[in-house]
Amino acid sequence: MSIPFPIYRAAATALIVAVASPPSAYLLRRRIGWAVAALNRDGAPSHVRHHGPRLTECANWSSVPMIRQLRRRVALAALAALTFGAPAHAAGDLMRGAQAARTCIACHSFAPGRHMTGPSLAGVWGRKAGTTEGFDRYSEALKRSGLVWDEGKLDAWLKNPAALVPGNAMNFPGIADARTRTDLLAYLEAVSNGRVSVSDRGPPNLKQADAASRVTSMRYCGDAYRVTTADDKTRTFWEFNLRFKTDGSADGPAAGKPVIVPNGMQGDRAAVIFSRPEEISTLIRRQCA
Ligand code: HEC
Repeated sequence: MSIPFPIYRAAATALIVAVASPPSAYLLRRRIGWAVAALNRDGAPSHVRHHGPRLTECANWSSVPMIRQLRRRVALAALAALTFGAPAHAAGDLMRGAQAARTCIACHSFAPGRHMTGPSLAGVWGRKAGTTEGFDRYSEALKRSGLVWDEGKLDAWLKNPAALVPGNAMNFPGIADARTRTDLLAYLEAVSNGRVSVSDRGPPNLKQADAASRVTSMRYCGDAYRVTTADDKTRTFWEFNLRFKTDGSADGPAAGKPVIVPNGMQGDRAAVIFSRPEEISTLIRRQCA
């Protein structure tokens, strides 16, 4: 949109006030003045700050006529924003939002098509819930919710996912602080719509693993695995410290070429990642010598 939002908002508000009030040129000018003042009194986009503490601070003044009028104008302004279409983006702080998003990236990527525990959040803004292409682990609850991820629904989801969609599969308690959610939503919208790019390098592509990581053979004896890699080194692990995983994604290892990656800080734990589960038992030989 080419019209700056404050101007657009004021114009929309003026129109609503004009429609809602008895016509009188002088009165109308004053009403518009009030409405714009009400909107801009803290210089922030109204549709976000309305939920903040500023209005509740006034709650016990509500019998003062001037305040009543002001509140009515704020309500009308909110109506105007709704009626005429508020801009699609939330007005939080992007930097703080990026910080808050750190809790999400344990489970979500912003890169298109990169699904983790949760679906990629690229383009999620405005999309129907449970429909991200290529993500097949949605709960029935989310798929059936019929929700569309607009600002209000995302806010409710991030506040308390279990309350919005009972039985959903996002194991996340929610963010109680409204300000943090507003910031996070601003960031989500910006990233989702590509206005802010994220350095989402993702996991390394295991097809390009170095020789020290490429597993050439695995032996099992007693309570130990002996893992030999392409650099001709053999490491011994207590069986309980070695995990087997599969990664069938584009970043996973090539068929029959598992890769060993460290798991934990101590160096005594590792994971061997296979391209598919069938390889696990065929690659491991039961052999002691
Ligand atoms: C512990 C892992 C985990 C964390 C942490 C997490 N999510 Fe999720 N998220 C999921 C899973 C799993 C789903 C799918 C839920 C389902 O199908 O019921 C999901 C679904 C979603 C959806 C719906 C996507 C769609 O396509 O409908 C959104 C939006 C979302 N998460 C945002 C976030 C944000 C923002 C954060 C950080 C504040 C976050 N999530 C933190 C695992 C997580």
